[in-house]
Amino acid sequence: MSHLTKVDHVTYACAQGTIEKWAWFHIEVEGGTLVTRIDDVRPDDPDSSMKLWCIDYGGFGIALVEGIDRRRKSQVTKFVERHGDHACQHVAFACRDLEAFRRRLVEMGGHPRGTTLVRHDGFGLVKQMFAKGYEEGDAAEATFPEYVQRPQPGDDPEKVRITFSEEAGRGFYDQIEDAIAAGDHEPLVDFARMPPDWRPPRPAAPGAAVERWRVT
Ligand SMILES: [Fe+2]
Repeated sequence: MSHLTKVDHVTYACAQGTIEKWAWFHIEVEGGTLVTRIDDVRPDDPDSSMKLWCIDYGGFGIALVEGIDRRRKSQVTKFVERHGDHACQHVAFACRDLEAFRRRLVEMGGHPRGTTLVRHDGFGLVKQMFAKGYEEGDAAEATFPEYVQRPQPGDDPEKVRITFSEEAGRGFYDQIEDAIAAGDHEPLVDFARMPPDWRPPRPAAPGAAVERWRVT
């Protein structure tokens, strides 16, 4: 059974001074709708911050972030220096059951970045879990996955109330700052649980994953 159901949003890191240009592309050329515009997510942080603009396409979203450097270089600026303008910082995947997937990830040797959060992320109410970078090294420079669960139309209101009760915590900017301060270079997964004799299964017929998802 697939734990993930679809791409929820993709976040691109923009070089300084380019977020408007990229917003024009996603809105005017691709047809997205700007739903959130925050020009400084950390106005009281003397060290660094970022801009966050969210563009919705209906079935998924694109988030644009741009670093704001103050006493220190923003982690978004560092990411752009390493990967280039409009580089993909993270892809967020929707999960059928985020808590169940978190347990699965940890059991298989994966490393969440921090605690699971419930908050409004610019696209709406979300339960979210960030994970450590795909590559070992500086947390500011690594590409990483985010896993989310959102209330769905038709969900039982009581289940939604329990699932999405506020869980205050530190968002990805803080979680990455914490990792930098702690010198945490650990990658998402160390592959210790991958059997040495593992081989890919025979490719299934096109559409098989969708059918399997529907019957379970
Ligand atoms: Fe995200």
